Amino acid sequence: MKDFTDKLIYITGGSSGIGLATGRLLASLGADIVLLARQAAPLEQARALLEGNKKTGRQKIRILSVDVGKPTEVSERMKQAVDSFGAPDILINSAGINKYADHFENITPDMFDEVMKVNVNGVRNVTHALLDPMKEKKGQVVILSSAAALFGMFGYSTYAASKSALTGFAESLRYELKPLGMQVSIIFPPEVDTPMNIDEAKTLPVQGKAMKQMAGTLTPAYVAKVIVKAIAQKKYFVIPGMLTRAFYLLHRLSNGVLTRTIADMVVKQAGRGKA
Ligand SMILES: NC(=O)c1ccc[n+]([C@@H]2O[C@H](COP(=O)([O-])OP(=O)(O)OC[C@H]3O[C@@H](n4cnc5c(N)ncnc54)[C@H](OP(=O)(O)O)[C@@H]3O)[C@@H](O)[C@H]2O)c1
Repeated sequence: MKDFTDKLIYITGGSSGIGLATGRLLASLGADIVLLARQAAPLEQARALLEGNKKTGRQKIRILSVDVGKPTEVSERMKQAVDSFGAPDILINSAGINKYADHFENITPDMFDEVMKVNVNGVRNVTHALLDPMKEKKGQVVILSSAAALFGMFGYSTYAASKSALTGFAESLRYELKPLGMQVSIIFPPEVDTPMNIDEAKTLPVQGKAMKQMAGTLTPAYVAKVIVKAIAQKKYFVIPGMLTRAFYLLHRLSNGVLTRTIADMVVKQAGRGKA
């Protein structure tokens, strides 16, 4: 894999799941890393893990507490971070939540806003705060979307809306950054075995659980490899997992007719006996 020595990489959501696994892989490939999330204790634990993954003793692993959903806090903390650590060569936007995976009729305006604030505004806030300092380095911006943005899913009206918004964001940003020599990558994983799914399982309807199983579950380490490869090869649109890529191909070729027909059958079967 590509060597990332002397590359400075900021990872939001770096204390857990996909962000943490990507940080660990990049540390093993020589990168200097800044992990960003809200809670101090998981950040400290993550830093200790990355220290153990480092390729050389010269590498710096830093942590910074920030709530990506708060624009003023983000711009202040990112300015401090750039002043203290330097501008990132690569920004990985992995912070995200999926707290209210439920029937749409159970979703209040506050629940919807909370998810959008972290998943959409959070990516906006951090990318906006770091964009100017990253220009000189011709930096790369990576955005974690989801397979839910490609297909939609039963129980995901809130989460899928937030992840689909990132597609439009990334498509537009790509046009603006390409002339500056900067790269955007957007990643669409199916289910990944991380703490996020513990939260989600509390409310996700059985039909949603059945739909998710169609694409299988990936490990965070596998997705981290896909992300690092996308960065190294400067790929824009990246779907981890053969099964999800095959479904997406089928979806595009049939204009969604085949994939919706299959998913409708899965939903019907799972929902037998349910309202
Ligand atoms: N797991 C999946 O099945 C899956 C599938 C497709 C896409 N994704 C996407 O991949 C990304 C990573 O997911 P994951 O599964 O790795 O999640 P995870 O294990 O739950 O980790 C989420 C990370 O985001 C941070 N975070 C949450 N809210 C934040 C906020 N307001 N400000 C700053 N940091 C915040 C968390 O730390 P704090 O709570 O301490 O802030 C944590 O570090 C997300 O964008 C997710 O939507 C996940």
